[in-house]
Amino acid sequence: MEKITVIGAGNVGATVTNVIAHKDLTKDLILLDIKEGVAEGKALDIWQTSSIHHFNTRIKGVTNDYLATKGSGIIVITSGIPRKPGMSRDDLIKTNASIVKDVTEKAIKYSPDAIIIVVSNPLDVMTYAAYKASNKPSRKVFGMAGILDTGRYRAFLANALDVSPTDIHAWLLGGHGNTMVPLPRYTSVNGIPVTQLLGKDELDKIVERTKMGGGELVDLMGTSAWYAPGAAAAQMVEAIVDDQKRIFPVCACLNGEYDEKGVYLGVPVKLGRHGIEEIIEIELDKNEKKLLQTSANAVRDVMKVLDDMKIF
Ligand code: LAC
Repeated sequence: MEKITVIGAGNVGATVTNVIAHKDLTKDLILLDIKEGVAEGKALDIWQTSSIHHFNTRIKGVTNDYLATKGSGIIVITSGIPRKPGMSRDDLIKTNASIVKDVTEKAIKYSPDAIIIVVSNPLDVMTYAAYKASNKPSRKVFGMAGILDTGRYRAFLANALDVSPTDIHAWLLGGHGNTMVPLPRYTSVNGIPVTQLLGKDELDKIVERTKMGGGELVDLMGTSAWYAPGAAAAQMVEAIVDDQKRIFPVCACLNGEYDEKGVYLGVPVKLGRHGIEEIIEIELDKNEKKLLQTSANAVRDVMKVLDDMKIF
């Protein structure tokens, strides 16, 4: 089991670290932050739950010490500022782009072979920024959003149907923003199409709530969520470490798939030891295609802001 590094010890970074430790995916887990003592403190706090939760993962917190991350097989980037009420994820780009570029360059210097999972917002464009900064094949640089967004969608459906959320299988494509595309046609309760179990109005409401799911939490808490984002990123790490070949919605660089090129967007992929091992193209009807196109264009608008920053 190789070293895993989580960069950024904020709420999301600490939660990813905590969940990875619980899953015992490595002996060697590094949490890095720029704020003196924060990563050290959170790592120590998590480590002190090891005898209670029965895990062996050693967690080391460091302040800006990239040498400690040397030889990581996976790097999870959570750095950057979170949203405040009234902000969209895209409002964060100016601040977070430079941060993501900087941490990617520093981390990749010590772990050139690492797979990079980006969690920072605006997610799709920050993943693109890490891709640019790392100079790695895009199958090794991808972003976490779809598992989180389908997690929300599945939770809402479980409530509406009063069934176990684990029995709900759902697909959602597109960017991690209000234009994301939940797909009721590809959503089922253990194989039973959800469209047979819920009326159109109720389904439409759940789809809308899912699209605004992150914002709902920002409004409630004054900052963005961490339990579900952290758990979702850890699930991707697990699929890679254990070479599970799981099929998840992941923010991936498209090269002609779904008729899109040069844009990072949420699509179904197979995740295994080598990162993205396959991008899976599912059939979409006319309306679904249009919604995905709108979402891709929304991501492109934010990519343009990044390009105009001329940091690459
Ligand atoms: C959310 C943030 C993390 O969706 O993007 O909660």
